[in-house]
Amino acid sequence: MEQIKNYIEINKQRFIDELFEFIKIPSVSSKVEHKQDMFTCAGKVKDFLLKAGVDKAEIMSTAGHPVVFAEKIISKSFPTVLVYGHYDVQPAEPFELWKTPPFEPTLIDGKIYGRGSSDDKGQVFMHIKAFELMNATNTLNCNVKFMIEGEEEVGSTSLEQFCIDHKEMLKSDIILVSDTGMIAQDIPSITVGLRGLSYMEVEVTGPNRDLHSGIYGGAVANPANVLTKLIASLTDENNHITIPHFYDDVEMLSNEERSEMAKAPFDLQQFKKSLNIDEVQGETGFSTIERTTIRPTLDVNGIWSGHTGEGSKTIIPSKAFAKISMRLVPHQNPDKIAKLFEEHFKRIAPPTVKVDVRFLHGGEAYVSPTTSKAYLAADKAYTDTFGKKPIPTRSGGSIPIISTFEKVLGVKSILMGFGLESDAIHSPNEHFHLTNFFKGIETIPMFYKYFGESNSK
Ligand code: BES
Ligand code: MN
Ligand code: MN
Repeated sequence: MEQIKNYIEINKQRFIDELFEFIKIPSVSSKVEHKQDMFTCAGKVKDFLLKAGVDKAEIMSTAGHPVVFAEKIISKSFPTVLVYGHYDVQPAEPFELWKTPPFEPTLIDGKIYGRGSSDDKGQVFMHIKAFELMNATNTLNCNVKFMIEGEEEVGSTSLEQFCIDHKEMLKSDIILVSDTGMIAQDIPSITVGLRGLSYMEVEVTGPNRDLHSGIYGGAVANPANVLTKLIASLTDENNHITIPHFYDDVEMLSNEERSEMAKAPFDLQQFKKSLNIDEVQGETGFSTIERTTIRPTLDVNGIWSGHTGEGSKTIIPSKAFAKISMRLVPHQNPDKIAKLFEEHFKRIAPPTVKVDVRFLHGGEAYVSPTTSKAYLAADKAYTDTFGKKPIPTRSGGSIPIISTFEKVLGVKSILMGFGLESDAIHSPNEHFHLTNFFKGIETIPMFYKYFGESNSK
């Protein structure tokens, strides 16, 4: 471990400078205007990997944004670790709320500010640097492959086909991912669960044009009024989702599992304070942690209609739209849930409007055991670098491709995330603590060490 620490100490500043170059590229996957930046960013990742010492690295095209694949194969007797991460980022808007520009990374009080600093460029970069370190110090005891994609933030829609097409190339014993968080800087944790997702868009159409709300108001259904009523009816007074059969496949945890979960440190007062809210809300009968991890949810992500510009305009809008996501738990099928949503939404819509429901993307939930070789190796690695045993936690977020990996490649993932809840991922002023960044670079080689030792053939 001394060797690891020394290497980091000597190369610290270069690591930061290189990560800054990475964050500077505005690789926003959801916007066509950034299509070129996606290529530039993929090229950057490829260069980083080549410089770190892989045998080969290539930019591989998909139906969408390219995937960067690289590998270093040392010996048939070593197990193979496939590192997965994403170089794409969420849009940075609203720009005016950023204290420093999102694509001009800035170091303030030991934190790197910038879009993607924590989700996921900073964390992908930890793996590249951990690899560089193991390579430079001749300590690598696993074969390593990298698959860094550019469409995670838009649902990884091309990656399933990519996996089907390149099954042999992606052959591995474990998929190693840092794209989640940990409980706190001094409380290491390993993510053993992710929620799934069904992401819908609805369009409600009323009259064939925006109407004068004085001349027509009262006689013609207003799509915005209709849409908001429909949305309000999707949950009841107990914050239960009202879509018939929505809960049919939901797995209920045993009382033992629930009380085990409740032991993980969580400060509700601090939680509310950090969000500047007076009260939390959620499904009756479940704790805040349970509501955000083991229970499914339904949320409006965006809603728009009519006049939203300056001043007033007196109209009945012709159309109203909403983007609605449902977080899913193990055994819920995203296609089935999308279908239930669509049927229900169409059923409850009044005859005064037409509704169109679109399923944008989805993914299944994921759970992983705490008894696997990978988990045990990760557990030892964190114990070495943090001086305490990591806590297994389920996360409420989604990385839809993780369950696809299991289905298509037949390989499990180990989720060693180093982000903090306060990193403000997807929000203005996203940041990543240098402490976490360096702790990641320190812990990852220890994972390889233990995983390699427990798997040598
Ligand atoms: N890295 C996040 C997921 C995450 C963050 C999981 C923190 C656990 C803790 C990922 O980039 C992400 O944002 N996923 C999306 C889903 C995707 C389909 C847009 C999400 O969870 O909203
Ligand atoms: Mn991510
Ligand atoms: Mn994200």
